[in-house]
Amino acid sequence: MTSHIHSEPILQSLELVAERVGDPTPLVYAELFRQQPEMEAMFVNDRDGAVRGHMLSEALDGILDFVDERKYADNMIRAEIVNHENLGVPPDVFAAFFAVIRDAFRDALGREWTKEMEEAWKELLVALSETLPAHA
Ligand code: HEM
Repeated sequence: MTSHIHSEPILQSLELVAERVGDPTPLVYAELFRQQPEMEAMFVNDRDGAVRGHMLSEALDGILDFVDERKYADNMIRAEIVNHENLGVPPDVFAAFFAVIRDAFRDALGREWTKEMEEAWKELLVALSETLPAHA
């Protein structure tokens, strides 16, 4: 399945965040815990942040596949929803992580966040919500 999301502004936003702040992990999880404070306790055993970093990199890789060839992202997301529900992460909170990434990136880029990035991320979030089981 090929998607019709404008992938270029998404890629640009990822690259620019990497240039401006390096590793976005702290920003993204600060935003997550601001929006979903009850989720912070789930990461108490992740003392060195390795799980948080790995989870974010899988989510970002999934996004890159999702806006390109969609070879595995749909299946990965559906599988992770189930895994996370078993961990105690409600599906709507799981899905909200993608918007958290967008919010953290938009904040990090400030005036460098473009209208094209805003539109493309909107398309991406709508398309991701459509791949969730509730829409199957
Ligand atoms: C707010 C939403 C989310 C919360 C609260 C959350 C929470 C967690 C927690 C607590 C773990 C550690 C599990 C363990 O200790 O065994 C974990 C692992 C993981 N999560 Fe999430 N998750 C969320 C969203 C996502 C999303 C959207 C993705 C990707 C599509 C994802 C991918 C992963 C992966 C790949 C791991 C394994 C990382 C590793 O063990 O190195 N998560 N998640």
